[in-house]
Amino acid sequence: MCGIYAAINNSSVTDFLISGLSSLTYRGYDSAGVAVFNGTGIERRRAEGKLSALSDLLKIQPLDGKVGIAHTRWATHGLPNEQNAHPHMTARVAVAHNGIVENYEKLRVMLESSGYIFESETDSETIAQLITYYLDFGLDSEQALCKALADIEGSFGVVVIFSDDADKLYASRKGSPLILGRSEDGFSVSSDVNAFDESINSITHLKDGDVAKLTPDSFNIFNLEGQSIVRLMQKIEHEKNVSGKQGYKHFMLKEIFEQPQVFENTWRHYYSQVDGEFKLPKLPFNDKDIERLSLVACGTSFFASMVAKYWLEEQAGIPTDIDIASEFRYRNVPCAKNSAALFVSQSGETADTLAALNHCKSQQQPCVSLVNVLTSTMATESDGVMPTLAGPEIGVASTKAFIGQLTTLLVLTLALKNSRAYKKDTPQPNIAEIMTTFPDIMNGYLSDTSHIERVAMDLKHVNNILYLGRGIAYPLAEEGALKLKEITYIHAEAYPSGELKHGPLALVDEEMPVVMIVPPGPLFGKSMSNLREVASRGGKIYLISDKEGISQAKDFIKHGIEMPDVDPILVPLLYTVPLQLLAYYVALYKGHDVDQPRNLAKSVTVE
Ligand code: M6R
Repeated sequence: MCGIYAAINNSSVTDFLISGLSSLTYRGYDSAGVAVFNGTGIERRRAEGKLSALSDLLKIQPLDGKVGIAHTRWATHGLPNEQNAHPHMTARVAVAHNGIVENYEKLRVMLESSGYIFESETDSETIAQLITYYLDFGLDSEQALCKALADIEGSFGVVVIFSDDADKLYASRKGSPLILGRSEDGFSVSSDVNAFDESINSITHLKDGDVAKLTPDSFNIFNLEGQSIVRLMQKIEHEKNVSGKQGYKHFMLKEIFEQPQVFENTWRHYYSQVDGEFKLPKLPFNDKDIERLSLVACGTSFFASMVAKYWLEEQAGIPTDIDIASEFRYRNVPCAKNSAALFVSQSGETADTLAALNHCKSQQQPCVSLVNVLTSTMATESDGVMPTLAGPEIGVASTKAFIGQLTTLLVLTLALKNSRAYKKDTPQPNIAEIMTTFPDIMNGYLSDTSHIERVAMDLKHVNNILYLGRGIAYPLAEEGALKLKEITYIHAEAYPSGELKHGPLALVDEEMPVVMIVPPGPLFGKSMSNLREVASRGGKIYLISDKEGISQAKDFIKHGIEMPDVDPILVPLLYTVPLQLLAYYVALYKGHDVDQPRNLAKSVTVE
């Protein structure tokens, strides 16, 4: 979490730092700060709240310098206030840090007993004080930095400037990503490649243990023992037309409306209309005889994996395990023979998913990542990569990335079904036609959102909502509840409808709104029985179903959200859209910051 941007140029860096930081606020936005070497010493500005507060401060108290570091924070240790905002500094050094210093209490006691005075409650300040401690021992800046970093347990991506070595910028990582970028004017360091603007023409990813020493004209990389390391700069391709809200009120709404295009791009990427064949990248397992797949992810990416379990088992006949990465990583999971692990992640940087990947790699299990950021650590560390082609997602609530993940997982399922000739004796639908017509169905649905707006108006004052779904609609209920929680702050819980009688039915009374997702299909009748059970207890039902479903349930429901007809295989993709819109409009009517909900960050790079 948290965003870092640092630069050393032949010209002033302050505007450059703030502009870099503005692309990183999705990683944290509770405070921000910047420090530069101003010609005589290190000078710093910090402000609590959104980045605009720091920009306003800089208008009144400008900073100028050719080397500087900046940070946007998501609080882990200490309140989100100015005092705890980065950069942290002493008279000799300034540091911006991502990650967690796990042994900070021990280090802090040692430093305080040696007379070093802390001004914040953070673990990160320990790094600045520890470097100063070693400088005071007489070590030079490079030695002091390496000594301090070697003492740190936990994870870090750090950028560092020194008042006595002010023509250099240092960066180092262990567990938190950092990327170097080169421009005509100098070098930048960022925690995310997306923060690099058009002036950055080439990049290299630092690896764990790397220390980079940068001047405006050169870079050196070495390890903590001082041994030189070669990392090659590669040309960067900047994504076009991704900036701005393009007329939408929020990034989230724009990203919801981009979903038909995301689906089409992904389908076209993986399927040749000309040959009528799937075009999967080279995968590190034999698709014909793989016996088991294991999908590991967090949050929305986990719910995409949950949908995929239904697909892979039903359509391709492959037993599939799904796991939440934060649980998987500490369970010492024995990796099954002739199996492969898939890691699903928008960012490709989620700390828990990355740790799970490293566990599977250490067990020699073939690892494939499905990521939206191809330059991410997960993509780099995996044996195979399937990109999800959603384009940069800015809203903290994931929408189009989910659709990109579902489409990619569906393609994988269908390709495996084909190559394994699974169910080859049953009639095969014309999948190419089904997929090609789907973007129009989705666009048609999105062309009028007024029905969802009415439901949202109805729900904006409630305190609790239940989401229910059966079969493949169950993970959608989970995703709908997650979306609602994260941006409306309404308590929402999802259950498989079949679990109702095992407990949650006790929650249902006249006060309880219940969103039920009931697509047509083999479980329709059973779901309708559940619906009646809720209705008989007075629950206010908001039913998402097709025309037939709404008509059958009309006497029991408060609102019907009617979905167009679609092939059953595409139900999860289409039925997700009203759930996203519902969360969006409730949050909008409640006056919340839709794109940057409280307490959250887009990329969860600490556990
Ligand atoms: O980048 P990842 O897909 O690995 O992120 C996983 C979750 O942190 C993410 O999906 C999160 O749950 C979203 N904010 C949900 O909208």
